[in-house]
Amino acid sequence: MPGKNKVAKKRLDKFYYLAKERGYRSRAAFKLLQLDKKFEFLCKSKGCLDLCAAPGSWMQAARQIMPKDSPIIGVDLAPIKPIPKCSSLVDDITTQKCRAALKRELKGNVVDVVLHDGAPNVGTSWLQDAFGQNELTLAALRLATDFLQPGGCFVTKVFRSNDYNALLYVFNALFHKVEATKPQASRAESAEIFVVCRGFKNATIDPKFLDPKHVFSMVDEDDTAVNVLQQKKGKKARPEGYDNLGGIQLLNTKVSVKDFVLGSTPVKMLGEVNAFTWDESDECVFWKAQKQTKPEILHCCGDLKVLGKREFRTADSSGPARGRAQADRGAVQRRHLAGVDPDRTRGRAARRAEPAL
Ligand SMILES: C[S@@+](CC[C@H](N)C(=O)[O-])C[C@H]1O[C@@H](n2cnc3c(N)ncnc32)[C@H](O)[C@@H]1O
Repeated sequence: MPGKNKVAKKRLDKFYYLAKERGYRSRAAFKLLQLDKKFEFLCKSKGCLDLCAAPGSWMQAARQIMPKDSPIIGVDLAPIKPIPKCSSLVDDITTQKCRAALKRELKGNVVDVVLHDGAPNVGTSWLQDAFGQNELTLAALRLATDFLQPGGCFVTKVFRSNDYNALLYVFNALFHKVEATKPQASRAESAEIFVVCRGFKNATIDPKFLDPKHVFSMVDEDDTAVNVLQQKKGKKARPEGYDNLGGIQLLNTKVSVKDFVLGSTPVKMLGEVNAFTWDESDECVFWKAQKQTKPEILHCCGDLKVLGKREFRTADSSGPARGRAQADRGAVQRRHLAGVDPDRTRGRAARRAEPAL
């Protein structure tokens, strides 16, 4: 196939060559290095568990940054070639057997950093890939809750799909500070994003938070809740630009700024869309030329899923109304996890979520 080599060549980017040059086993090392540069969770770490660690480049990078006597333990389905002053296990992180093996390896101790860069076998179908990835993330979180000391840090890869918001909700329930970011070494076209959760709460954890059936069902429930705002039940709106398959949102959903501002489902869009685009319509051209449309806003529109509340406030031209609606969406998820019937509160959420345009 003529195009195949070209694609493969393109994938061998500068981080691939840098990794070779610096002796890292994979270009993924730079993702961890860039995450640590931003959040500094490794330099004082007293112990690190690296889940899904093969071939071991995150372990290599962590070993360079962490204090020399702090243990690093890597786990993967595949064997990891020895790395000086690190140990590793061959195991499946989704199993009880792995949990028991880690307990033995740590001799009853806890760690202050748990890393997770796992990727299940991909390539079946996009939807299965995304779901498998996020299930694996939840399994990693489960292990983190077993082995993290209070105040500890969990750094994980997450696939941006419909389940992303549910995972973020759970992270926020278990950690004091949760931030999503995409390091430069992560390919722009990849749906992966990294979430850094700091300040593990020393609290009793409701098992529902770690049960994929419960956590990922929040998304459907919430979807219905938002549909109630704009349309009759059973009739799903399809705003222009949505990639939707059987009601499940796909990656790279982009919507024009014009559709967002003038559309009837801005709240739903904020929660689901990955990016806003500036098309050639008169409205977009006019708005883009305004001095209030600062470069920061243009930048934020390019990747909505990495934005925090502050950026949403800055980027959201209609301000408080949409901010409130986001909060309502979170509230529906909170009530779901707490076992409260969201139906009872939907009417109120619907009224408050009307955009102020
Ligand atoms: C992207 S690689 C990790 C790269 C690693 N961070 C590094 O820097 O070398 C993803 C890894 O996840 C592992 N994996 C997938 N599912 C797993 C599971 N259930 N248990 C353990 N490892 C798993 C795969 O074997 C693969 O090695």
